[in-house]
Amino acid sequence: MLASPLIEFIAREHPAFVHVPLGLVAALPLAILISFLTKHARPLTGTAFFIAAVGWASSVASLVSGLLWGRQVNLIPVTGYFPVVASEKQVLQKMLQLHITASLVGFVIGGLCTWLLWRAWRREDSPGFAERRHAGRRFWERGAGVPALVVALLWLGSWGFSGKLGGIMVFGNEETNKAAADADRAKRNDAEADLPIRALDYASLEPAGAAPERSKAHGDRWRRIWVTASGIDDYQAGKPMKPGAYAVMATFTDEKGKPGTEPGPLYMKETKADGSTAFLFYWARVPENLRKEVGGQDSVYWRSPDPKLITCLGCHEKDATPAK
Ligand code: HEC
Repeated sequence: MLASPLIEFIAREHPAFVHVPLGLVAALPLAILISFLTKHARPLTGTAFFIAAVGWASSVASLVSGLLWGRQVNLIPVTGYFPVVASEKQVLQKMLQLHITASLVGFVIGGLCTWLLWRAWRREDSPGFAERRHAGRRFWERGAGVPALVVALLWLGSWGFSGKLGGIMVFGNEETNKAAADADRAKRNDAEADLPIRALDYASLEPAGAAPERSKAHGDRWRRIWVTASGIDDYQAGKPMKPGAYAVMATFTDEKGKPGTEPGPLYMKETKADGSTAFLFYWARVPENLRKEVGGQDSVYWRSPDPKLITCLGCHEKDATPAK
């Protein structure tokens, strides 16, 4: 989806970029401490302020590259900002939610810390304050001040936590490795992992109508519906289908009010063994002008519990077949 090599580079270098702000924020508490233990409070407070300001500003590159990377590897929806967790097995998505939350909390705290340091640095110049000798000041007023130190430690804490999760996501730990192995095994046992074989074989099912009809609900295309023998009677009667039964809808473009010849996406709705409904959306070749409908992709294969199918659920609530 991201064609530009520059964007690709920015996304992939996220694990490198993050070390600039992290390193600076790790050094910050030390810089603040030194500023109130010596007599050179003003230049040292200024130093602490610059460390914080550069750390805070450079973190913007980390936030942006992290978002791009998350979208590129499909952990964040292509047009979204936060991963969606659709099942308990999505360990990486859950970890990424925490990672993003901690980095954003750190960003807010960092803004506050930078502002506190800037204030302390300006204050060193103010008349009255500068006249009081260093040793005469209360401890928390010296240099950058104790409040800035506390906030800097909170800042380091939240980014440190975020960084730890980031490291786990890149290098893996027991939980993520197990999740990856499970996903691998599930994929090997799943004949339709790469191609919706049953949906593509729709012509072997029972046609639910004699001729194509237009469907406003599915992109205003022409459609025909095909249902398994085990489900066709229930389907015709408007009843929920039995477990194992499924319906496939094949679509075509519209040409001047008549069914066209260009195939559109395939839709499938299945009643699973446990009675729940699963959806499938397969569009082998998305024409260039319609790619914006599917997040810019040129080929789409989505299956439940993919969060991109949430729109299907909106109309196809629970097991009820929608009114025609
Ligand atoms: C705007 C509401 C709406 C949305 C969104 C929607 N559908 Fe439908 N769907 C319908 C209606 C209404 C029908 C009945 C037939 C028709 O009007 O085309 C239907 C019919 C179907 C059928 C034929 C079997 C049946 O139950 O009649 C399938 C399969 C299907 N939809 C799959 C999907 C999938 C997969 C998605 C998501 C990618 C989806 N639909 C999104 C409203 C919707």
